[in-house]
Amino acid sequence: MIIAVDGPVAAGKGTLARRIAVHYRLEYLDTGALYRAVGLKLLRDGHDPHDEEAAVNAARHVGEVPLDDPALRDEATGEAASIVAANQGVRAALLQYQRDFAKIKGGAVLDGRDIGTVVCPNADVKLFVTASAEVRARRRFDELVAKGVETTFEAVLEDLHARDTRDMGRGAAPLKKADDAHLLDTSKLDIEAAVTAACMIIDAA
Ligand code: DC
Repeated sequence: MIIAVDGPVAAGKGTLARRIAVHYRLEYLDTGALYRAVGLKLLRDGHDPHDEEAAVNAARHVGEVPLDDPALRDEATGEAASIVAANQGVRAALLQYQRDFAKIKGGAVLDGRDIGTVVCPNADVKLFVTASAEVRARRRFDELVAKGVETTFEAVLEDLHARDTRDMGRGAAPLKKADDAHLLDTSKLDIEAAVTAACMIIDAA
């Protein structure tokens, strides 16, 4: 069984996808971590994330960055990831990795932006997880404050709008709901309620 979980930044899809994977005893791949790994590798090697050739090269060696490196979660890494994600060559290099993961593991939950539309268009279940920009910014702001990062809600909201624009506006695999994806708006749901709602959709499918 392949479950595709897509949605914008800070919609809660990562936590949700992990919980779904545990519930259905499936492997889990955070595909955003792959783009972050490419961004981080570039920053560490002293390259500009806009350098397309260096970015494609980094994507081909994405396995060199452990996907549990805490630096993957840094804001600077997220920013670099968002830039390389618009690079068609990077996306092509990461596509096979993602498809192989789903195939080799005999089923998986993949979360990202283009899983239901590009990576696994034949996924058994597709969820498009979203929430209002204000709710997403509030969640991200609380997360950052808990990590000790000094920022303001306004700055986080502005950054989130910029990421949304880039994710949805890019020519290469823009973020959009697949026609056959189930929309799950978590604006008014806590994580337990979101997991329950997702499992109902999956069980029905
Ligand atoms: O979900 P995230 O913040 O970890 O993702 C990091 C960046 O990678 C974000 O700008 C969107 C991009 N991304 C993508 O383009 N396609 C995916 N399947 C996953 C993430």
